[in-house]
Amino acid sequence: MASSTSSVITLRINGEKYTLPVDHRTTLLDALRERLDLTGTKKGCDQGQCGACTVLLDGRRSVACLQLAVAAEGREITTIEGVADGDRLHPVQQAFLDLDGFQCGYCTPGQICSAIGMIEEHAAGWPSAVTEDVHPEAGPPPLTTREIRERMSGNLCRCAAYVAIVDAVARAAEARPDEERVHPATGAEEVVA
Ligand code: FES
Ligand code: FES
Repeated sequence: MASSTSSVITLRINGEKYTLPVDHRTTLLDALRERLDLTGTKKGCDQGQCGACTVLLDGRRSVACLQLAVAAEGREITTIEGVADGDRLHPVQQAFLDLDGFQCGYCTPGQICSAIGMIEEHAAGWPSAVTEDVHPEAGPPPLTTREIRERMSGNLCRCAAYVAIVDAVARAAEARPDEERVHPATGAEEVVA
């Protein structure tokens, strides 16, 4: 029931609609885990520092512990439960599996969602803090180990499986087909080689 401190909201998650009452202070992470039983998204620090809770909002990566559930209404939310295509794993999931990009696995859902968003950001030509040529006409920089490490630096792994994580992200990025892509910020269509 709606009140001055709560509202009934409808969240669209992995293509499904979920309607639920929430206290306005409820984070998206707590709504997913505690209210909707979508426990694939993990809680690490609960303060935006570790990346364990990373999900995709309209295709962009976002830490769910810093996002209020009420503010996620109207967004397309993708969690780790929604990245596979039926029985077919997402290429990033498959690469993590093939290259042992995890140990305990606690950070892995966040790493995978972050990598999915990161690969799209890179393909759209977004620079990172270590990109040397940031002119738009330069296009996406080579996705070197340094670039991947920087772009994935918001996702911590307590098991320190970083070497294999970087290899898995690189393999998944290489397997991404060249096609018309939409810039995630501007919405402009572009062709990325
Ligand atoms: S639990 Fe959200 S960033 Fe750590
Ligand atoms: S695999 Fe254990 S925290 Fe990353």
